[in-house]
Amino acid sequence: MTQWFLQGLHSTLVLSAPDAGDLHQAPVFRYWGPQLPADALPPLAWHEARGCPPSSIDRGLPPTVFPSWGHGDASQPALRAHRQGAGFCFSSDRYEVGPGATANGLDISLHDDVHQIAVLLTLHLDECDTLHIRTQLRNLGDTPLQVDFLASANLYLPASIATVHSFHGQWSNEFQWQAQTLAHTQWRQENRAGRTSHQVFPGAVLTDATTGWHSGPCFGAHLAWSGNFVHTIDTLDDGHRQWQLALALAPGELALAPGARFDAPAAMASFSPAGRNGLMQNFHAAMRATVQWPHGRMSPRPVHLNTWEAVYFEHRLGDLQAFATEAARLGVERFILDDGWFHGRHDDRSSLGDWWPDAGKYPDGLAPLAAHVTGLGMQFGLWVEPEMVNPDSELYRMHPEWAFAATHKKQQTWRHQLVLNTALPGVQNYLFEKLDTLLRTLPIGYLKWDMNRDLTQAVGADGRAGYAGFVAGLYTLLARVRAAHPGVEIESCASGGGRMDAGVLAYTHRFWTSDNTDALSRVSIQRGALQFFPPELLGAHIGPAPYHTTGRTQSLDFRAGVALPLHLGLELDVRTLEPKERAQLVPWITLYQSLRGQLHQGAMWLGACGDHIVWQAHGSAQDLVVFVTRTAPTEARHSPPLVLPMLDATAAYRLARIDPPTLGASNAGADARMHQALREGQAIDFHGAWLTQAGLPLPRMAGESVHIYRIQQR
Ligand code: GLA
Repeated sequence: MTQWFLQGLHSTLVLSAPDAGDLHQAPVFRYWGPQLPADALPPLAWHEARGCPPSSIDRGLPPTVFPSWGHGDASQPALRAHRQGAGFCFSSDRYEVGPGATANGLDISLHDDVHQIAVLLTLHLDECDTLHIRTQLRNLGDTPLQVDFLASANLYLPASIATVHSFHGQWSNEFQWQAQTLAHTQWRQENRAGRTSHQVFPGAVLTDATTGWHSGPCFGAHLAWSGNFVHTIDTLDDGHRQWQLALALAPGELALAPGARFDAPAAMASFSPAGRNGLMQNFHAAMRATVQWPHGRMSPRPVHLNTWEAVYFEHRLGDLQAFATEAARLGVERFILDDGWFHGRHDDRSSLGDWWPDAGKYPDGLAPLAAHVTGLGMQFGLWVEPEMVNPDSELYRMHPEWAFAATHKKQQTWRHQLVLNTALPGVQNYLFEKLDTLLRTLPIGYLKWDMNRDLTQAVGADGRAGYAGFVAGLYTLLARVRAAHPGVEIESCASGGGRMDAGVLAYTHRFWTSDNTDALSRVSIQRGALQFFPPELLGAHIGPAPYHTTGRTQSLDFRAGVALPLHLGLELDVRTLEPKERAQLVPWITLYQSLRGQLHQGAMWLGACGDHIVWQAHGSAQDLVVFVTRTAPTEARHSPPLVLPMLDATAAYRLARIDPPTLGASNAGADARMHQALREGQAIDFHGAWLTQAGLPLPRMAGESVHIYRIQQR
């Protein structure tokens, strides 16, 4: 019996050959889960191990890597396609399995000779247990093939995996975690926003009743795509859960011409036996491998200052230069000029598309400001929103046909703007030329690439839906900009976290996690985003108090402590800081600079102590930095202890508190002597067994506060 193994560090995927008599000749999905030795699978074909239950099709139906239509079981087909209504019963007549281009990979080709369709699946299990899946569809017939659905990933899990953790949200409230129990109804999340969206995320985490933060089986999957998607989980009557991730196609959107090929968005799927943290670490590794850094290597993540919430559209060269001077004094390393700099842009009603400096605000262009910034030793960054156009712009007056049009209907604006159809060569060339000019003529090291609206009726010039074409056009443009300017880093922003996925990450280097920098809101937003993305890719800024969007006021220490472990920045008018605030802020920036090497490379763990205390740890069992965050006042006399199961129970540790001392009084109550000593800079020794089992006794902590501990092996 032929079988194929993909072996990860902690996981295994096993496929086996179909029986010669099977209607659908595709490799059988035998196993995905905890690592198995290569000889563990009984030498039995699927049919030999499984009987045929009463009242079902006469021949048993194995779950395959690419289920066909009308197979006779309840599973979802991986392809729904037809030729003007006919020829919809795709099933493979023959298949080939090759070793694949990568080590630990497989190439599987399926051929439907009757319907003239071929599918190529490329699987690769990386060394950190993430399975990378690519699906390619070919129309070998001589008429167009209308494709309604093509799964990027089709996965089978045991029915004991009964909880799905997914995300929902909205602008300024992204990545809100929800857990649901799977039942005998389909679980489904669909995105029709045209961009990755604030509302749903193209990925989820699946667990069983024993899975926790640190242990238990945990599966995850993610679609590397920045547009419409659908993911579903079906509970099948054969005892499996079937999980599919796919591009969501609008009616008529994908018609493959004779001979044409379509590459579905890539998918990533991962298993860890070490709970949600194990899965998070797998995804962090996969995302880190996705990023293409300038010069092949991530440089230390520079401290940002972004001008948006400090000046909005009020750009005055002298003020901005003074602003930059003050920022540099504080330790800022990259100064980003946000919205408001380009031709005629005085509010959010006009000018998107006119990507040259506003002559009134910048009579000599941006060069004087850029030179001032770089002269202070900072990198200069610039905000752009290339795929957008305001009806009130030179570009729209010149090329109204470049915006998506709704035939017979009025196109809806959103923030007064329309979307350019990036699939059009004219749009591509115009945008490239404008960006290229800016990047060639100014010392720009960083683009904040924004995208501030959903796609609504994305009707292309041919009357067909243009959602997927828009995303493909965006990727082409990004690739062209990257190739021409390989030293420039790009941030993916879409009104905050509306475009965060591994698809756009292949061209970018940072996500603007949320427009909301209220530290309390950020705790849950960031913890959600961290499940898939490593900290160095997530922008986190210290905002003003009270905060513009939520109206809430938080201490500077809390704002800094929440932002510090990610890619730190400032989103406030540093010119207006009181001397005391400045004195408080500088040590936080210095602490970030001294810790970022550790925060942004090693493993990460999330956890919760209860009583409104959550924590996150960065590093290793030898050297760990732990952020302990209390989000609300305690409900008990004493805080629960901080138990850190990733430490070595046999080792001796020295623990120190490293967040800068708070200036001013705290009403958290008198700390225990141990915590007073820690606060005074003394280190305390602990046995690893104590920290992994009993835990560090935490002090009471004020309602919204962060303590940072460093725990090192002696
Ligand atoms: C979006 C971004 C903000 C800012 C504004 C500018 O909302 O998320 O950070 O750049 O656009 O208009």
